[in-house]
Amino acid sequence: MNINITKTTKSRITYINFDKLDFGRVFSDHMFVMAYQNGTWQQPSIEPYGSITFEPSMMALHYGQAVFEGMKAYHANDKTIHLFRPKDHHKRLNNSARRLCMPEIEESVFIEGLEELLKLDSAWVPKTHGHALYIRPLMFASEEYLAAKVSEEYQFFIITSPVAAYYSEGFNPVSLTTSENFVRAVKGGTGEAKAAGNYGGSFLPAKKAQEIGYTQVLWLDAIEHKYVEEVGTMNIFFLMDNKLVTPQLSGSVLPGITRRSVIALAKEWGIEVEERQISIDEVFDAHKNGTLQEIFGAGTAAVISPVGHINHKGESITLDREKIGPFAKKMFDAITDIQYGKIDDKYGWIHPVTLV
Ligand SMILES: Cc1ncc(COP(=O)(O)O)c(C=O)c1O
Repeated sequence: MNINITKTTKSRITYINFDKLDFGRVFSDHMFVMAYQNGTWQQPSIEPYGSITFEPSMMALHYGQAVFEGMKAYHANDKTIHLFRPKDHHKRLNNSARRLCMPEIEESVFIEGLEELLKLDSAWVPKTHGHALYIRPLMFASEEYLAAKVSEEYQFFIITSPVAAYYSEGFNPVSLTTSENFVRAVKGGTGEAKAAGNYGGSFLPAKKAQEIGYTQVLWLDAIEHKYVEEVGTMNIFFLMDNKLVTPQLSGSVLPGITRRSVIALAKEWGIEVEERQISIDEVFDAHKNGTLQEIFGAGTAAVISPVGHINHKGESITLDREKIGPFAKKMFDAITDIQYGKIDDKYGWIHPVTLV
């Protein structure tokens, strides 16, 4: 693939304090850009990161045809950067695009674009263990036309942002509340796509949860309001009776790539894994009868996030709030060790990018 590369004439990296990184606030020097016009993707380019221009009639702003991904690159050594499961992220991006009636991107374009961008901005991949370069591929409808219909033009970007270790001050268990009035997604809707609008719609309930002291909403199913689905930007796991239980991918849950990794590792360790419907009542009952051992979320940002507290209709359960459980910690260590190349990658999850 031929990518037109225009390098920046003045890197901004010298202004960045890598000891004080605020998630998603600073961006590396370059971005991958590709436009879709006349029924096909045009020649891609890598350009200096910067503003783009569009008219207020741009369709993504009105009708919400916008999808994205979130993944990370890790410093393995001075010659190698590790991408974690980029082909799975690519597949999910295309699944999201299909659901929103947007054009798919070829795997080779996505992977080569990422590789070239990383080679150019390799100095932006933080070297401190736990830190990473967050990667945000995004696609949106760019036709300028006020008509509620499928856009005929799109823009695809990959931008990157160095981020600090999520747990620089130790694991901090989150507290969750279910919501009685709001739902995140319904089967047949866009919940299993990484569609921008899913997030916009969840901000009000999340804000209300925070106002009453909870970190995030624990989403229940939209029909019966009974079965656990997921949390903010994480899938959820319950260690109960020495089994690992997680909500099945019902059509309204985002198929997390960390989720899939957790399930594979747990099975390898001989843990029974159940992907099934799990009601909030079952979780509360397990806590009452002493079989609920650990609860944790799984997602790219935190990898594993211990849950210390759940509120549901005024009743609550509290686990060990001060620390992460032993199973969740073992899982966190195993996944991060694979990501940084500290242990063998039996599954082929790592895509190394070799620097010259
Ligand atoms: C709604 C939602 N659920 C779950 C996840 C976890 O997915 P992943 O492990 O692929 O980051 C994310 C993050 O992308 C998310 O936004």
